[in-house]
Amino acid sequence: MKAVRFSTFGQPLKVVEVVEEPDAELKAGEARLEVLATPINPSDVLTLTGQYGQLPKLPAVPGNEGVGRVVEVKDSTAVRVGDLVFLPLGAGTWRTHVVTPADGLMPVPPGTDVQQASMMFINPPTADILLRDFVTLQPGEWVLQNAGNSAVGRYVISLAKLAGYKTVSVVRREELAPELTALGADVVLVDSDKLPEQVRAATGGAKVRLALDAVGGDGTMRLGDSLAPGGMVVNYGVMSGKGPKLSAAATIFKDITLRGFWLVLWMKRTPRDAQRAVFGRLAKLMAEGQLKTPVEGTFPLENIQDALARAMEGGRAGKVLLTPNGKV
Ligand SMILES: NC(=O)c1ccc[n+]([C@@H]2O[C@H](COP(=O)([O-])OP(=O)(O)OC[C@H]3O[C@@H](n4cnc5c(N)ncnc54)[C@H](OP(=O)(O)O)[C@@H]3O)[C@@H](O)[C@H]2O)c1
Repeated sequence: MKAVRFSTFGQPLKVVEVVEEPDAELKAGEARLEVLATPINPSDVLTLTGQYGQLPKLPAVPGNEGVGRVVEVKDSTAVRVGDLVFLPLGAGTWRTHVVTPADGLMPVPPGTDVQQASMMFINPPTADILLRDFVTLQPGEWVLQNAGNSAVGRYVISLAKLAGYKTVSVVRREELAPELTALGADVVLVDSDKLPEQVRAATGGAKVRLALDAVGGDGTMRLGDSLAPGGMVVNYGVMSGKGPKLSAAATIFKDITLRGFWLVLWMKRTPRDAQRAVFGRLAKLMAEGQLKTPVEGTFPLENIQDALARAMEGGRAGKVLLTPNGKV
Protein backbone atom coordinates (compact mmCIF):
# COMPACT_ATOMS: atom_id res chain seq x y z
CA MET A 1 0.00 0.00 0.00
CA LYS A 2 0.96 3.64 -0.38
CA ALA A 3 0.82 6.34 2.26
CA VAL A 4 1.67 10.00 2.72
CA ARG A 5 4.25 10.25 5.49
CA PHE A 6 6.01 13.05 7.35
CA SER A 7 9.04 12.70 9.61
CA THR A 8 9.50 16.31 10.75
CA PHE A 9 7.16 19.24 11.37
CA GLY A 10 7.54 22.18 9.00
CA GLN A 11 6.34 23.67 5.72
CA PRO A 12 3.63 21.15 4.70
CA LEU A 13 4.68 20.84 1.04
CA LYS A 14 8.26 20.13 2.07
CA VAL A 15 7.70 17.62 4.88
CA VAL A 16 5.33 15.17 3.12
CA GLU A 17 6.40 12.26 0.92
CA VAL A 18 4.55 9.30 -0.59
CA VAL A 19 5.98 5.96 0.55
CA GLU A 20 5.30 2.26 -0.13
CA GLU A 21 4.49 0.28 2.99
CA PRO A 22 4.11 -3.51 3.30
CA ASP A 23 0.50 -4.78 3.54
CA ALA A 24 -0.10 -5.81 7.16
CA GLU A 25 -1.51 -9.34 7.78
CA LEU A 26 -4.98 -9.05 9.35
CA LYS A 27 -5.37 -10.26 12.93
CA ALA A 28 -8.63 -11.83 14.14
CA GLY A 29 -11.37 -9.18 14.35
CA GLU A 30 -9.69 -6.76 11.92
CA ALA A 31 -10.83 -5.36 8.59
CA ARG A 32 -8.87 -3.90 5.68
CA LEU A 33 -10.45 -0.79 4.19
CA GLU A 34 -9.68 0.68 0.80
CA VAL A 35 -9.67 4.47 1.30
CA LEU A 36 -12.03 6.12 -1.19
CA ALA A 37 -11.95 9.76 -0.10
CA THR A 38 -10.30 11.71 2.72
CA PRO A 39 -10.23 15.52 3.09
CA ILE A 40 -7.45 17.98 3.83
CA ASN A 41 -8.74 20.04 6.76
CA PRO A 42 -7.11 23.13 8.32
CA SER A 43 -6.25 20.96 11.37
CA ASP A 44 -4.22 18.62 9.10
CA VAL A 45 -2.18 21.58 7.86
CA LEU A 46 -1.60 22.75 11.47
CA THR A 47 -0.53 19.20 12.40
CA LEU A 48 2.05 19.16 9.59
CA THR A 49 3.46 22.52 10.74
CA GLY A 50 3.54 21.32 14.36
CA GLN A 51 1.06 23.97 15.56
CA TYR A 52 -1.95 21.78 16.43
CA GLY A 53 -3.25 21.05 19.94
CA GLN A 54 -2.15 17.40 19.79
CA LEU A 55 0.68 16.10 17.66
CA PRO A 56 1.52 12.53 16.59
CA LYS A 57 4.77 10.72 17.28
CA LEU A 58 6.85 10.93 14.08
CA PRO A 59 7.08 9.50 11.50
CA ALA A 60 3.31 9.61 11.01
CA VAL A 61 0.63 9.44 8.34
CA PRO A 62 -1.61 12.56 8.33
CA GLY A 63 -5.38 12.59 7.88
CA ASN A 64 -8.22 12.16 10.35
CA GLU A 65 -11.45 11.23 8.57
CA GLY A 66 -12.83 9.74 5.37
CA VAL A 67 -14.75 6.90 3.77
CA GLY A 68 -13.49 3.42 2.95
CA ARG A 69 -14.74 0.20 1.42
CA VAL A 70 -14.17 -3.08 3.26
CA VAL A 71 -11.93 -5.30 1.09
CA GLU A 72 -11.01 -8.01 3.65
CA VAL A 73 -12.27 -9.13 7.09
CA LYS A 74 -10.80 -11.71 9.45
CA ASP A 75 -12.95 -13.60 11.96
CA SER A 76 -15.61 -10.92 12.41
CA THR A 77 -19.22 -10.48 11.35
CA ALA A 78 -19.26 -6.77 12.22
CA VAL A 79 -18.76 -5.78 8.56
CA ARG A 80 -18.73 -7.55 5.20
CA VAL A 81 -16.53 -7.19 2.15
CA GLY A 82 -17.99 -4.41 0.00
CA ASP A 83 -19.49 -2.40 2.91
CA LEU A 84 -18.95 1.37 2.82
CA VAL A 85 -17.83 2.63 6.24
CA PHE A 86 -16.58 5.83 7.84
CA LEU A 87 -12.84 5.62 8.55
CA PRO A 88 -12.07 5.65 12.28
CA LEU A 89 -11.34 9.21 13.46
CA GLY A 90 -7.64 10.00 13.60
CA ALA A 91 -6.59 6.83 11.77
CA GLY A 92 -3.90 8.50 9.62
CA THR A 93 -6.19 8.36 6.59
CA TRP A 94 -3.98 9.73 3.78
CA ARG A 95 -3.14 6.23 2.55
CA THR A 96 -4.52 3.68 0.14
CA HIS A 97 -5.57 1.19 2.87
CA VAL A 98 -6.37 1.28 6.58
CA VAL A 99 -6.31 -1.80 8.85
CA THR A 100 -8.58 -1.43 11.87
CA PRO A 101 -10.75 -3.42 14.31
CA ALA A 102 -14.00 -4.30 12.50
CA ASP A 103 -16.08 -3.83 15.65
CA GLY A 104 -17.30 -0.27 16.02
CA LEU A 105 -16.94 0.70 12.35
CA MET A 106 -19.88 2.92 11.40
CA PRO A 107 -21.64 2.15 8.10
CA VAL A 108 -22.21 4.98 5.62
CA PRO A 109 -26.01 5.27 5.24
CA PRO A 110 -27.15 3.96 1.83
CA GLY A 111 -27.42 6.64 -0.83
CA THR A 112 -24.91 9.03 0.75
CA ASP A 113 -22.58 10.78 -1.66
CA VAL A 114 -19.12 9.33 -0.93
CA GLN A 115 -17.30 12.66 -1.20
CA GLN A 116 -19.73 14.30 1.22
CA ALA A 117 -19.55 11.35 3.61
CA SER A 118 -15.74 11.64 3.72
CA MET A 119 -16.19 15.00 5.49
CA MET A 120 -18.76 13.78 8.02
CA PHE A 121 -16.87 13.21 11.27
CA ILE A 122 -15.24 16.57 12.08
CA ASN A 123 -16.98 19.63 10.66
CA PRO A 124 -20.68 18.61 10.90
CA PRO A 125 -20.44 17.67 14.62
CA THR A 126 -18.45 20.87 15.25
CA ALA A 127 -21.24 22.98 13.72
CA ASP A 128 -23.90 21.00 15.60
CA ILE A 129 -22.21 21.32 19.00
CA LEU A 130 -21.41 25.02 18.50
CA LEU A 131 -25.12 25.66 17.91
CA ARG A 132 -26.37 23.52 20.82
CA ASP A 133 -23.87 23.51 23.70
CA PHE A 134 -23.06 27.14 24.51
CA VAL A 135 -26.21 29.30 24.32
CA THR A 136 -29.71 27.81 24.32
CA LEU A 137 -31.30 29.58 21.38
CA GLN A 138 -35.03 29.72 20.73
CA PRO A 139 -36.49 29.36 17.23
CA GLY A 140 -36.47 32.77 15.55
CA GLU A 141 -33.26 33.89 17.30
CA TRP A 142 -30.18 34.93 15.36
CA VAL A 143 -26.72 33.38 15.30
CA LEU A 144 -23.75 35.32 13.91
CA GLN A 145 -20.69 33.62 12.41
CA ASN A 146 -17.58 34.44 10.39
CA ALA A 147 -15.92 32.21 7.75
CA GLY A 148 -19.53 31.68 6.69
CA ASN A 149 -18.50 29.91 3.46
CA SER A 150 -16.20 27.40 5.22
CA ALA A 151 -17.41 23.82 5.52
CA VAL A 152 -18.28 24.40 9.20
CA GLY A 153 -19.98 27.69 8.27
CA ARG A 154 -22.17 26.00 5.67
CA TYR A 155 -23.18 23.24 8.10
CA VAL A 156 -24.02 25.96 10.66
CA ILE A 157 -26.30 27.63 8.09
CA SER A 158 -28.09 24.34 7.30
CA LEU A 159 -28.41 23.14 10.91
CA ALA A 160 -29.56 26.57 12.12
CA LYS A 161 -32.24 26.60 9.43
CA LEU A 162 -33.46 23.14 10.51
CA ALA A 163 -33.64 24.37 14.13
CA GLY A 164 -35.51 27.55 13.12
CA TYR A 165 -32.66 29.96 13.93
CA LYS A 166 -31.68 32.81 11.61
CA THR A 167 -28.09 33.30 10.52
CA VAL A 168 -25.83 36.24 9.76
CA SER A 169 -22.82 34.83 7.92
CA VAL A 170 -19.75 37.02 7.57
CA VAL A 171 -17.43 36.32 4.62
CA ARG A 172 -14.40 37.91 2.93
CA ARG A 173 -15.83 37.88 -0.61
CA GLU A 174 -19.08 39.52 -1.71
CA GLU A 175 -19.62 37.03 -4.57
CA LEU A 176 -20.40 34.26 -2.03
CA ALA A 177 -23.74 35.81 -1.03
CA PRO A 178 -25.94 34.11 -3.70
CA GLU A 179 -24.70 30.56 -3.01
CA LEU A 180 -24.94 30.95 0.78
CA THR A 181 -28.41 32.47 0.46
CA ALA A 182 -29.42 29.51 -1.73
CA LEU A 183 -28.14 27.22 1.04
CA GLY A 184 -30.45 28.95 3.54
CA ALA A 185 -28.39 31.85 4.91
CA ASP A 186 -30.66 34.70 6.01
CA VAL A 187 -28.05 37.47 5.81
CA VAL A 188 -24.54 37.48 4.29
CA LEU A 189 -22.20 40.38 5.11
CA VAL A 190 -18.65 41.17 4.05
CA ASP A 191 -16.35 41.61 7.06
CA SER A 192 -15.37 45.21 7.84
CA ASP A 193 -15.20 47.66 10.73
CA LYS A 194 -18.83 48.51 9.98
CA LEU A 195 -19.94 45.00 10.97
CA PRO A 196 -21.71 45.93 14.26
CA GLU A 197 -23.90 48.56 12.51
CA GLN A 198 -24.55 46.25 9.58
CA VAL A 199 -25.61 43.39 11.88
CA ARG A 200 -27.92 45.75 13.76
CA ALA A 201 -29.49 46.96 10.50
CA ALA A 202 -29.83 43.48 8.99
CA THR A 203 -31.42 41.92 12.08
CA GLY A 204 -33.69 44.87 12.85
CA GLY A 205 -31.81 45.48 16.10
CA ALA A 206 -32.44 41.92 17.35
CA LYS A 207 -30.65 40.75 20.50
CA VAL A 208 -28.01 38.47 18.95
CA ARG A 209 -26.65 36.27 21.77
CA LEU A 210 -24.31 33.80 20.02
CA ALA A 211 -21.38 34.35 17.64
CA LEU A 212 -19.17 31.59 16.21
CA ASP A 213 -15.60 32.60 15.37
CA ALA A 214 -13.20 30.68 13.10
CA VAL A 215 -11.01 33.68 12.26
CA GLY A 216 -9.46 35.09 15.46
CA GLY A 217 -7.76 38.47 15.91
CA ASP A 218 -9.82 41.52 14.94
CA GLY A 219 -12.39 39.20 13.36
CA THR A 220 -13.34 37.95 16.83
CA MET A 221 -13.52 41.51 18.11
CA ARG A 222 -15.94 42.57 15.35
CA LEU A 223 -18.24 39.65 16.26
CA GLY A 224 -18.09 40.56 19.97
CA ASP A 225 -18.92 44.21 19.19
CA SER A 226 -21.97 43.04 17.18
CA LEU A 227 -23.56 41.03 20.03
CA ALA A 228 -26.26 42.05 22.50
CA PRO A 229 -25.23 42.57 26.16
CA GLY A 230 -24.53 39.22 27.84
CA GLY A 231 -23.77 37.52 24.51
CA MET A 232 -21.09 34.92 23.90
CA VAL A 233 -18.42 34.49 21.22
CA VAL A 234 -17.26 30.90 20.77
CA ASN A 235 -13.84 30.74 19.14
CA TYR A 236 -13.16 27.43 17.38
CA GLY A 237 -10.54 28.35 14.75
CA VAL A 238 -7.83 30.87 13.96
CA MET A 239 -7.81 31.13 10.17
CA SER A 240 -6.18 34.60 10.45
CA GLY A 241 -3.32 33.05 12.42
CA LYS A 242 -4.07 35.44 15.29
CA GLY A 243 -5.47 34.66 18.72
CA PRO A 244 -9.05 35.79 19.50
CA LYS A 245 -9.60 39.12 21.21
CA LEU A 246 -12.50 41.23 22.43
CA SER A 247 -12.78 45.00 22.86
CA ALA A 248 -12.95 46.43 26.38
CA ALA A 249 -16.28 47.99 25.35
CA ALA A 250 -17.58 44.45 24.76
CA THR A 251 -16.17 42.82 27.91
CA ILE A 252 -16.78 45.68 30.36
CA PHE A 253 -19.79 47.57 29.09
CA LYS A 254 -21.66 44.65 27.52
CA ASP A 255 -20.53 41.65 29.57
CA ILE A 256 -19.62 39.73 26.40
CA THR A 257 -17.83 36.45 27.13
CA LEU A 258 -15.39 34.44 25.03
CA ARG A 259 -15.32 30.65 25.14
CA GLY A 260 -13.33 28.14 23.13
CA PHE A 261 -14.35 24.87 21.54
CA TRP A 262 -12.25 21.86 20.45
CA LEU A 263 -13.92 18.69 19.19
CA VAL A 264 -11.10 16.57 20.63
CA LEU A 265 -12.00 17.64 24.18
CA TRP A 266 -15.71 17.13 23.47
CA MET A 267 -14.95 13.57 22.39
CA LYS A 268 -12.88 12.95 25.53
CA ARG A 269 -15.69 14.07 27.84
CA THR A 270 -18.66 12.66 25.91
CA PRO A 271 -19.67 9.00 26.39
CA ARG A 272 -19.27 6.84 23.27
CA ASP A 273 -23.01 6.18 22.94
CA ALA A 274 -23.79 9.91 23.02
CA GLN A 275 -21.10 10.54 20.38
CA ARG A 276 -22.54 7.84 18.14
CA ALA A 277 -26.00 9.35 18.54
CA VAL A 278 -24.69 12.73 17.29
CA PHE A 279 -22.76 11.16 14.39
CA GLY A 280 -25.75 8.97 13.48
CA ARG A 281 -28.18 11.91 13.42
CA LEU A 282 -25.82 13.99 11.28
CA ALA A 283 -25.02 11.08 8.92
CA LYS A 284 -28.76 10.69 8.30
CA LEU A 285 -29.09 14.40 7.45
CA MET A 286 -26.12 14.05 5.11
CA ALA A 287 -27.66 11.00 3.42
CA GLU A 288 -30.84 13.06 2.87
CA GLY A 289 -28.74 15.80 1.22
CA GLN A 290 -29.48 18.29 4.02
CA LEU A 291 -25.81 18.75 4.95
CA LYS A 292 -23.40 19.39 2.15
CA THR A 293 -20.34 21.41 1.28
CA PRO A 294 -18.75 21.92 -2.13
CA VAL A 295 -15.58 20.13 -3.24
CA GLU A 296 -12.84 22.21 -4.87
CA GLY A 297 -11.07 19.21 -6.36
CA THR A 298 -9.89 15.63 -5.86
CA PHE A 299 -6.26 14.55 -6.00
CA PRO A 300 -4.44 11.19 -6.00
CA LEU A 301 -1.93 10.58 -3.19
CA GLU A 302 0.94 11.05 -5.64
CA ASN A 303 -0.14 14.69 -6.13
CA ILE A 304 -0.11 15.44 -2.40
CA GLN A 305 2.00 18.61 -2.87
CA ASP A 306 -0.51 20.06 -5.37
CA ALA A 307 -3.41 19.06 -3.13
CA LEU A 308 -1.84 20.69 -0.07
CA ALA A 309 -0.95 23.84 -1.98
CA ARG A 310 -4.58 24.18 -3.08
CA ALA A 311 -5.94 23.40 0.40
CA MET A 312 -3.73 26.10 1.92
CA GLU A 313 -4.90 28.83 -0.48
CA GLY A 314 -7.67 31.28 0.34
CA GLY A 315 -10.56 31.82 -2.05
CA ARG A 316 -11.27 28.12 -2.68
CA ALA A 317 -14.67 27.01 -3.99
CA GLY A 318 -14.72 24.16 -1.44
CA LYS A 319 -12.77 21.36 0.20
CA VAL A 320 -9.79 19.51 -1.25
CA LEU A 321 -10.12 15.71 -1.11
CA LEU A 322 -7.58 12.94 -1.60
CA THR A 323 -8.92 9.94 -3.51
CA PRO A 324 -6.15 7.38 -2.98
CA ASN A 325 -7.80 4.59 -5.02
CA GLY A 326 -9.03 6.63 -7.97
CA LYS A 327 -11.88 9.07 -8.51
CA VAL A 328 -15.15 8.66 -6.59
N1 LIG B 1 -12.22 23.56 17.19
C1 LIG B 1 -12.59 22.45 16.54
O1 LIG B 1 -12.83 21.39 17.11
C2 LIG B 1 -12.71 22.54 15.04
C3 LIG B 1 -13.32 21.51 14.32
C4 LIG B 1 -13.46 21.66 12.94
C5 LIG B 1 -12.97 22.79 12.31
N2 LIG B 1 -12.34 23.73 13.05
C6 LIG B 1 -11.81 24.96 12.46
O2 LIG B 1 -12.85 25.57 11.74
C7 LIG B 1 -12.29 26.42 10.78
C8 LIG B 1 -12.99 26.15 9.45
O3 LIG B 1 -12.66 24.82 9.05
P1 LIG B 1 -13.24 24.27 7.67
O4 LIG B 1 -12.69 22.92 7.44
O5 LIG B 1 -14.71 24.47 7.68
O6 LIG B 1 -12.58 25.34 6.67
P2 LIG B 1 -12.57 25.41 5.10
O7 LIG B 1 -13.81 24.80 4.53
O8 LIG B 1 -11.26 24.88 4.64
O9 LIG B 1 -12.65 26.99 4.83
C9 LIG B 1 -11.68 27.89 5.32
C10 LIG B 1 -12.36 29.22 5.60
O10 LIG B 1 -11.43 30.10 6.23
C11 LIG B 1 -11.49 31.37 5.56
N3 LIG B 1 -10.19 32.00 5.70
C12 LIG B 1 -8.99 31.55 5.25
N4 LIG B 1 -8.01 32.40 5.61
C13 LIG B 1 -8.61 33.42 6.27
C14 LIG B 1 -8.13 34.62 6.87
N5 LIG B 1 -6.83 34.94 6.87
N6 LIG B 1 -9.03 35.45 7.47
C15 LIG B 1 -10.35 35.14 7.47
N7 LIG B 1 -10.86 34.02 6.93
C16 LIG B 1 -9.99 33.17 6.34
C17 LIG B 1 -11.84 31.02 4.13
O11 LIG B 1 -12.32 32.15 3.45
P3 LIG B 1 -12.07 32.34 1.86
O12 LIG B 1 -12.91 31.28 1.18
O13 LIG B 1 -12.49 33.72 1.56
O14 LIG B 1 -10.61 32.09 1.62
C18 LIG B 1 -12.90 29.95 4.37
O15 LIG B 1 -14.10 30.54 4.73
C19 LIG B 1 -10.79 26.14 10.76
O16 LIG B 1 -10.13 27.12 11.51
C20 LIG B 1 -10.71 24.79 11.46
O17 LIG B 1 -9.45 24.58 12.08
C21 LIG B 1 -12.21 23.63 14.40
